[in-house]
Amino acid sequence: MKISVIGAGNVGATCANEVANKDYAREVVLLDIKEGLPQGKALDMWQTAPICLSDTRIKGVTDDYCATANSDIIVITSGLPRKPGMSRDDLIATNANIVKQVTKKAVEKSPDAIIIIVSNPLDVMTYAALQAANEVCSKPTNKVFGMAGILDTARYTAFLAEELNISVKDIRAILMGGHGDTMVPLPRYTTVSGIPVTELLDKDKLDEIIQRAKVGGGELVKLMGTSAWYAPGIAAAQMVEAIVKNSRRILPVCTYLNGEYGLKDIYLGVPVVLGQNGIEKVIELDLNNEEKALLNKSAEAVQEVMTTLDNMNLFDKK
Ligand code: LAC
Repeated sequence: MKISVIGAGNVGATCANEVANKDYAREVVLLDIKEGLPQGKALDMWQTAPICLSDTRIKGVTDDYCATANSDIIVITSGLPRKPGMSRDDLIATNANIVKQVTKKAVEKSPDAIIIIVSNPLDVMTYAALQAANEVCSKPTNKVFGMAGILDTARYTAFLAEELNISVKDIRAILMGGHGDTMVPLPRYTTVSGIPVTELLDKDKLDEIIQRAKVGGGELVKLMGTSAWYAPGIAAAQMVEAIVKNSRRILPVCTYLNGEYGLKDIYLGVPVVLGQNGIEKVIELDLNNEEKALLNKSAEAVQEVMTTLDNMNLFDKK
């Protein structure tokens, strides 16, 4: 298996490092437009291999897409991160162009690769990547999707474990919607060793945790002056692992919806089965009216930014 990670910033490097350390890929290529940075980070990571006992070869390159040729999976992290006071949507003008260029160059060299988008605004950048990929070759939507739900669910779960003072390992949660403040954590589908979380926490406490998870990325931007990387990078690596091992894990993924949940032609976070073909199946939950309303509100927020992207006229309309 060959995995390429585009963008050797904090998120890309964290993802590449996690993939390489797990020892399931033959080769990881870390590409960036900068000189020295991808090579240096890759060399540093390669020097962890004797400690981690991983045989994955990791190589850093500057804008050399030939080095990424015939990748099985390409993770795209390129683009500017948020600064304090910015929403993810504020990044669209810059990042849409970057994601377009990068996706096209990567897909030209690896037309069959599965593409995982991590750049923000996530849902809309995934939609941009699908269009960019389709300018090169016909790309099925099950092979172009985005990372966000795993990260957002991890934040929600981490806060729950802290509040309940229990192991993170016992919490199972589902979160849907866009990767923005309208995301929809679902307490009705959150359990702690099989116990509904609603039996362990009162509504006010749960609402407080849900609210903190929704703005969890922003909390980190405020603290660090830039966006997070450990959890985002590792979340993307978890998707890579599920695909490489064909483990058919059920994970929340930013997925192209074609009528599921009553939504069409939109990328949005929903639970899916992730395996060797990418999205093997979209899981449709029987949401109640309140949950449906929250999901629709999130879809509207994403649709608004998708329209902004459409109005930029960056892509050939088929
Ligand atoms: C975050 C960014 C990566 O949520 O979107 O931290």
